[in-house]
Amino acid sequence: MPILRYASFLFVLLACFACETNSTTDSSAASNSPTHPEDSHSFARPEEAVTKHLSLNLKVDFDQQTLEGYARYQIQNNGADSIYLDSKDIDIQRVTIGKEEQETAFEIGYPDQFKGTPLVIDIEPTTEIVTIYYKTDPVGAAAVDWLEPGQTADKKHPFLFTQGQAILTRTWIPCQDSPGIRITYDAEITVPKDLMAVMSASNPQQKNDTGVYRFEMKQPIPSYLIALAVGDLEFAPIGERTGIYAEPSVVASAAYEFADIEKMLEVAEALYGPYLWDRYDVIVLPPSFPFGGMENPRLTFATPTIIAGDRSLTALIAHELAHSWSGNLVTNATWNDFWLNEGFTVYFERRIMEAVYGKPYADMLALLGYQDLKADVADLPPVDTHLKLSLKDRDPDEGMTNVAYEKGAFFLQMLEEQVGREKFDAFSKQYFEAYRFKTIYTDEFVQYLRTNLLEPNQVDVNIEEWIYGPGIPANVPQVASAKFDQVDAQIKSFQQGAEATTLITTDWTPHEWLHFIRAIPTDTDLKRMNELDETFGLSQSGNAEILAAWFERSIRTGYSVNTIAEIEQFLVNIGRRKFLTPLYRALKETDQLSLAQAIYKKARPNYHSVSRNSMEVLLEI
Ligand code: BES
Ligand code: ZN
Repeated sequence: MPILRYASFLFVLLACFACETNSTTDSSAASNSPTHPEDSHSFARPEEAVTKHLSLNLKVDFDQQTLEGYARYQIQNNGADSIYLDSKDIDIQRVTIGKEEQETAFEIGYPDQFKGTPLVIDIEPTTEIVTIYYKTDPVGAAAVDWLEPGQTADKKHPFLFTQGQAILTRTWIPCQDSPGIRITYDAEITVPKDLMAVMSASNPQQKNDTGVYRFEMKQPIPSYLIALAVGDLEFAPIGERTGIYAEPSVVASAAYEFADIEKMLEVAEALYGPYLWDRYDVIVLPPSFPFGGMENPRLTFATPTIIAGDRSLTALIAHELAHSWSGNLVTNATWNDFWLNEGFTVYFERRIMEAVYGKPYADMLALLGYQDLKADVADLPPVDTHLKLSLKDRDPDEGMTNVAYEKGAFFLQMLEEQVGREKFDAFSKQYFEAYRFKTIYTDEFVQYLRTNLLEPNQVDVNIEEWIYGPGIPANVPQVASAKFDQVDAQIKSFQQGAEATTLITTDWTPHEWLHFIRAIPTDTDLKRMNELDETFGLSQSGNAEILAAWFERSIRTGYSVNTIAEIEQFLVNIGRRKFLTPLYRALKETDQLSLAQAIYKKARPNYHSVSRNSMEVLLEI
């Protein structure tokens, strides 16, 4: 890969110098923020020239595993003689400016481990159009997962999906890859004729016989939300504005599982105002998808592991839907402000779940979340338990902990309890309205919160401690759950020696099972583990959450000697990082690193780069 084809030694020096200056003086994305912290994860200099609209034209080549074509930008040019974009491992072939496509010079700067390379394009002070011809790298395009037919549900056709968040879009589209910069886009994607393409945009509902698909995203979005999936897809409607995309053999079970989406959408609108993205569809991807879900606008990308058959894992859909307000409408300005996306979304997710399934259900979710938070706070260095993070010179992925999600959500719940639900809801709605299609920094949010909620209600509360301090503040809301109390009673009697068959587990949802399984002490003896397994069939559960929790306990108690085949099968087939990390970590921490490495070696082709990177650090590969 000729990454440095155009980089001269002098330029490298200049670029490094420029980046240094950039990081201390850059006021970055347009915002009326009181302070303007730079986005340390992007080379873009939006105050000089900023992209406004993207026309993407790509051909998908499954044989070569490349995307090839061009990205044409309309830019807002403040009289600059160059425009800075982000790119990582992309083969830039040529660049032109203007409608007449006059060839222009460009340079690719010195690579940074996480950020990739600045792509610096010569423009004229009047230039408004820039076109970049490029090809992605089969291996280097970390956003893109190329799947063989054998890695799909139906095993007949290849599949492709992209994952942009946090800073991977630059590996398949040269772009100003900062969440503080919003663009509209249109796209023309050419795929093999028997496949269909879908994007985070207006979507087809049927295949056509040309293999050419056109898309439009009219609302301005940050680059991390540009997404593409290609495969043998079918569509099934759920409601007027909602539906499911999946491979033919999956679409019916997915449509059953997510039947409540329309209801969730109505509840969300009642809370925070109209849904501004027209349609809300979900695509169920193959199991290598590294996350539970990703809130690509108009089209949530989801793991197949939430199809449990009993609609028990749909909180994840509520979560991704909630991002249509928190995240997609109002966006974190930098990855240090990630909690503004995820904390709000978890809080909002639980409000949707409470409205659709009742408070006892939402309380179970909150308690499980609290357990996750406590575990992460115990593991993380104290600075990484602040809501506002410092991720400069680090992979922004490191901010993806339960702190942003759960500490963020409990902070908002604490505020709700301070002022009462009615006032807090009015405040939230007003916030989404005031910042719609904008980005926001943490400090700016704090200011907004003081002016619009705390001062008018004369509330004086420790928000500094919550946002800029470590750990879990003492005024964290206390969640109680009668359902979990009942589970606790069963845990107690089991630990006091009661036989598994005598435990009362009737009507337990997977959430109650999770609570039960998480409470199993690591010194439980194998006979008792076996008793639980025989009585409740845990190693054979059809619910991926239960399997993952049970296998983790199995490894830590040593019971996994009996179930290692099932564990290996799970690890080889599923690429969702949230499940992989605890299992590989448990193997490592029980002195089975070489076994973990051997399983990983088999499983690796089934993992997206996001999961591969995390597992290779964990497993010292
Ligand atoms: N936006 C996130 C996923 C993400 C975060 C991808 C950071 C890359 C970088 C998504 O909304 C999410 O939070 N997914 C969770 C869902 C869960 C909290 C319900 C997941 O995948 O586990
Ligand atoms: Zn999220």
